[in-house]
Amino acid sequence: MKNILFVTSECVPFVKTGGLADVCGSLPKAFDKSEYDIRVILPNYHAIKEEWRNQMETVYYFQMDNRIYVGIKTLVLDGIRYYFVDNEQYFGGLVPYYDMFQDLERFAYFSKAVLSALPLIGFRPDIIHCHDWQSSLVPVYLNTVFQGDPFFRGIRTVFTIHNIRFQGTWDVGHIQWVSGLPWECFEPGRLVSPYQDTSIPKNSWNCSMMRGGLVYSDYITTVSNSYAGEIQTANFGDGLDDILRWRRERLWGILNGLDYDEWNPAKDKKIYKTYSVKSFRERKKVNKTELQKELKLKENPDVLTLGIVSRLTDQKGLDIVNIIMDELCSREINLIVLGTGAEYYENMFRYYQSKYPDKVSARIMYSDDLAHKIYAGVDALLVPSAFEPCGLTQLISLRYGTVPIVHAVGGLRDTVEPYNEFEETGTGFVFNEYTAWALMDRINHASWLYYNHKDRWDNLVERGMKKDFSWKESSKIYQDLYSRM
Ligand code: ADP
Ligand code: GLC
Repeated sequence: MKNILFVTSECVPFVKTGGLADVCGSLPKAFDKSEYDIRVILPNYHAIKEEWRNQMETVYYFQMDNRIYVGIKTLVLDGIRYYFVDNEQYFGGLVPYYDMFQDLERFAYFSKAVLSALPLIGFRPDIIHCHDWQSSLVPVYLNTVFQGDPFFRGIRTVFTIHNIRFQGTWDVGHIQWVSGLPWECFEPGRLVSPYQDTSIPKNSWNCSMMRGGLVYSDYITTVSNSYAGEIQTANFGDGLDDILRWRRERLWGILNGLDYDEWNPAKDKKIYKTYSVKSFRERKKVNKTELQKELKLKENPDVLTLGIVSRLTDQKGLDIVNIIMDELCSREINLIVLGTGAEYYENMFRYYQSKYPDKVSARIMYSDDLAHKIYAGVDALLVPSAFEPCGLTQLISLRYGTVPIVHAVGGLRDTVEPYNEFEETGTGFVFNEYTAWALMDRINHASWLYYNHKDRWDNLVERGMKKDFSWKESSKIYQDLYSRM
């Protein structure tokens, strides 16, 4: 039996702002329970619904370093044990993330609390698997502050990069202060880039918590093969490409999977009418017209309807969507948007909705129910991201018979095969150059196929629905990695 502990800042069904929560909620379930005991630890945010908080039991509580309260709560769901690090002062807010300055302290505390709690809760992991910068100090603490404690001897670590754009970055002085890590960690090449301007005071050097995770963990993974290559370049590496090139033998790209129980159009209780690869030709349009009705668009099963379900941030390619909006709305096309994020993009979509009320519906909110209805109800999903480590929305859309229109980058490149009209192959529309023109060109191609060759469109949909993006294959690769360790 191998014991594995996932350390994460979000996890479905408790708290989610993006794909990280989906992955940490679904990957542990994909392992054979007779061989793996995978448990998950995350903060006990006040933002977690009462429904879950009421089910938690306290395992232990103590004062870390004789001064800061750490409570450990637990519950079991679908055979997985979850632990929650409890501290009102750090996690008592209404949302999981605040601003970076405060989050550095909150997640440094979280990472240290996780290790401090382990000897007390009766679970000794063989491997600690950390996700994104919020848990990236775990391998650092383990190999420094906790090194002398026999309990921790032999514990291995994996660090998974879900998004290298967010690293937990500040100056050395602040990160040293919030983490209490020894000075050796701040030598250039560890938490600090080796390429520092040595003419500035050492305390002001830029310091990245994620870099710590990359330097101190035994293995590094990221969520697609293409992204594993991209982040070794200066363009995509966000200042960490040097360490990733240096450790490339220890860097694996493992594609994310989907929870095929949660995302299953044949059983989905959140959509208007269930359907499968056999029945989508008749049944999917019911989802479309019901969605149009709910969103107060004209009910019309025949109009090409595009969707966007996304965090509204620079990553997601919304700048090039902005450029094509007038052009798009001059066509026989509807656009349905669901997302929250940067105020600029929220207002941008509100503006287009007021300018084109018959064509654009913008729901500036977070709603899991509406997301399901959109994946089922629209014909095509736009995912024009500037960069995309993996991306789950294109995978969900393939599963729901919705054709993805994507930029050939990261996981989008690895999961959507470009439509080839001569060979009748492919599963979506893919553009190579990150320009508004290239995006519009692919939408035009999709629109031509949809309106002129519905039978071929349906075959394209069918090919996409038949692809398997469950965890079946990828969980085997994680098992392979764990067994090497
Ligand atoms: P990222 O993690 O970068 O946001 P992913 O594509 O990996 O991107 O995952 C996004 C996840 O969040 C998907 O499950 C998607 O359905 C969901 N999601 C994004 N925005 C919303 C929203 N406004 N309402 C509901 N779900 C959303
Ligand atoms: C990140 C990435 C996204 C990925 C998700 C889960 O948020 O932006 O591409 O799918 O993590 O790994």
